[in-house]
Amino acid sequence: MSDATKDQVIPDARIDDQEEPDHTTPTILSIEDMWVEYKTPHGWLQAVRGATLDIKRGEAVALIGESGSGKSTLGFAILRMLARGARIAKGKAIFTNSRGESYDLVTLPDKNFREFRWSECSMTFQAAQNSLNPVMRVKDTFWETAKAHGKRNHKEIDERTLDLLRKVQLDPRRVFDAYPHELSGGMRQRVSIALSLLLEPDLVILDEPTTALDILTQRAIIDVVKNLREQLDFTLIFISHDLSLAAELADRVATMYGGEIVEYAAVRDTFYRPRHPYTVGLLNAVPPIVGEEFTPLTAIPGSTPNLLDMPSGCPFHPRCPYHTDICIREDPPLMDVGGNHLTACHHHDKVTRDPEIWERMTAEEAVG
Ligand SMILES: Nc1ncnc2c1ncn2[C@@H]1O[C@H](COP(=O)(O)OP(=O)(O)OP(=O)(O)O)[C@@H](O)[C@H]1O
Ligand code: SF4
Ligand SMILES: [Mg+2]
Repeated sequence: MSDATKDQVIPDARIDDQEEPDHTTPTILSIEDMWVEYKTPHGWLQAVRGATLDIKRGEAVALIGESGSGKSTLGFAILRMLARGARIAKGKAIFTNSRGESYDLVTLPDKNFREFRWSECSMTFQAAQNSLNPVMRVKDTFWETAKAHGKRNHKEIDERTLDLLRKVQLDPRRVFDAYPHELSGGMRQRVSIALSLLLEPDLVILDEPTTALDILTQRAIIDVVKNLREQLDFTLIFISHDLSLAAELADRVATMYGGEIVEYAAVRDTFYRPRHPYTVGLLNAVPPIVGEEFTPLTAIPGSTPNLLDMPSGCPFHPRCPYHTDICIREDPPLMDVGGNHLTACHHHDKVTRDPEIWERMTAEEAVG
């Protein structure tokens, strides 16, 4: 864990303190059995495999998982910004706007989708600090984005730009007229975040908002995002492989493995009583997030699956110390194991945070 995250807080949890299902807050996005594929010389690579996820209006959801688990691909699929040669092979993404109107983002006609993108849902991309147009001043990037969405009141857009730059804790007068190369990486990242909020979207996707930034800048970006959520009322999906970031920013955490969502739970449940061995593996591989005694770190044995040649049954079984025969045969569905805690594991009731079972497996592997 970085120094930047030492003072983070996860809501405290008693072991019997289960989350009540929330039937009153409306769902803003419901992803149902989403499959996303990339065309490769070796065939279709399924990067997202049957992802299912319900996000409530106003929530912050962290999408975590190792590199290559499909986090960015899922974000791109929601905004239909997949690379050439990629396709949504199956599934729905039902978005419900603030007026209560619902539509499937997968089948929404292009014209309507152009209106939807950025005004209802926006995304800042991985390494966003490098994605601003280098030959455009910040103010012109904001203006062009607004214009592309039918906004014509230049003065109003400039005022909103200045306000947003202030909200992301930049000196608006200095940054407004600047070119991206005149700004530091952290400043460019803040500009990207401000830009994503320009059209007041209800849903914002931040893909790895702090990667490639130094520790102090990471800390500052986290604070910016927290403040923005307090001031502006948007739903947040943030993609990260940094568990400490998830602990600090999220209400709920979705863990991805091999393109599947394997666990989805309130942040305190994810950290205090995970019900999927992969989430436990991720937790054991980083220093403790809350004030626990220091325990030695344990890496997850083995490597991430080859998406062109997935293991049978549960995709995690070759690396899982709990696996039994059923795991090799059957891929478990994502199921609610109580308290709105979803997990895709045949043996979720046996899963503990005890590192010993992992250490034994690693030692057995080393012996061969
Ligand atoms: N344009 C592409 N063509 C072919 N395969 C791709 C393409 N983009 C991503 N992939 C593959 O899809 C899988 C998921 O990639 P993705 O970028 O969604 O993962 P990620 O979880 O965001 O990883 P990271 O943490 O490294 O950003 C990976 O195996 C990756 O190699
Ligand atoms: S289903 Fe089996 S292999 Fe998969 S995570 Fe659970 S115990 Fe491990
Ligand atoms: Mg990514």
